[in-house]
Amino acid sequence: MEAYLTDWFSLFFRWFHVITGIAWIGASFYFVWLDNSLEEPPQWKKDKGIKGDLWAIHGGGFYEVAKYQLGPEKMPQHLHWFKWEAYTTWLTGFILLWIVYYLGADRYLIDATKLALSVPEAIAAGLGFLLAGFVIYEGLLRTPLRNNGIAFGVVLFLVLAVASYVAHMLFSARGAYIHVGAVMGTIMAGNVLFGIMPAQRGLVSAVEKGESPDPALGEFAKLRSTHNNYLTLPVLFIMISNHYPMVYAHEYGWALLIAIGGIAAFARHFFNLRHKGVSKPIILVISAALLAAVAAAIAPTSSREAMPSDEGFTDAKALAVLQSRCATCHAATPTDDMFPAAPAGLFLETLEQVESAGFARIKGVIETNYMPLANRSGMTDEERAAIVGWLSEKGNGQ
Ligand code: HEC
Repeated sequence: MEAYLTDWFSLFFRWFHVITGIAWIGASFYFVWLDNSLEEPPQWKKDKGIKGDLWAIHGGGFYEVAKYQLGPEKMPQHLHWFKWEAYTTWLTGFILLWIVYYLGADRYLIDATKLALSVPEAIAAGLGFLLAGFVIYEGLLRTPLRNNGIAFGVVLFLVLAVASYVAHMLFSARGAYIHVGAVMGTIMAGNVLFGIMPAQRGLVSAVEKGESPDPALGEFAKLRSTHNNYLTLPVLFIMISNHYPMVYAHEYGWALLIAIGGIAAFARHFFNLRHKGVSKPIILVISAALLAAVAAAIAPTSSREAMPSDEGFTDAKALAVLQSRCATCHAATPTDDMFPAAPAGLFLETLEQVESAGFARIKGVIETNYMPLANRSGMTDEERAAIVGWLSEKGNGQ
């Protein structure tokens, strides 16, 4: 019952997190586009202090948007702020992290083959990791590095690369990915709370007093918002990455995270330029080519010297292994009390079921040590090698 309830909490907060994430990133994409697409306004608007305007049509209506050089003469009654999208995305993400990776630390966060942490130690390490990432970033922002956008970008990239490596030493591969993503998300939400919001409050109060706002605040906010902009695509990649063990469970999963994250940030650069009227499709072509190169570099080879010569390993023996090591969870009525229903909707009790799941897919998750999950069912290395060999043969015959 407890596991069943946890699943519902997980469903609810994952759903909530995706909704708020769409609202946050969607608004952020929209405003970056808006800002870069503004056109020169007619004179009568310029006289009112409007620096750029834009016409759009959406949902059956015309919209006229104007951006002020400084601010309107009089504060409007309602000013929309767009901050709760960021805060609720962080909060729901943090709750989800807790439900999936901290309540389920023994399954999803701890990898005893890397570091045999106890559950409280693993949770403390996770929280410490988030805090350290955030503190290092905020610290860097307070060094002269902040005056050089490109150098800052390079240093931030290196810091995240180190973070990925460290996370992989501490946690399971999945846990490592999600913690690097959570550090980025925390940095982004912190940028809104500690940089962008104070700058906007300064702007509003200056306009109210009829003074000119402090440009330093605005520039600082701009730097933070640029970082957020480049972090969006890498964070989205990490959010979906836990469906792809071929990436995160790879021997060099930590480096793949950095490579794909870097490619994603580079691809974002194309959109930033395009909004400004600079079209450089070559950036997207290079990004796609790099991604294809990564895919080719990690393409599975017939590794683990499959043991086809093991004549004695019959279908019956293979099924017996799957029955005892996989069907504790992947069955109509799982015996593992952590899983009230077959995870991923996958049943592995009969040959037909294994075949319809796909021999290659099954082989992939066993080969990378992703399954059995946290090896809760205690699969031995010999069983692993034998079953991978058997699956390779089956796969060839398909
Ligand atoms: C302790 C329970 C447990 C055991 C034992 C287990 N699994 Fe899983 N399996 C899971 C869970 C939980 C998921 C869903 C993971 C996720 O959300 O990424 C899963 C997902 C999968 C997937 C889908 C992965 C994907 O994202 O495409 C496959 C394939 C799979 N398991 C195969 C196996 C095989 C083969 C075995 C035996 C060698 C096995 N599992 C043993 C819990 C288990």
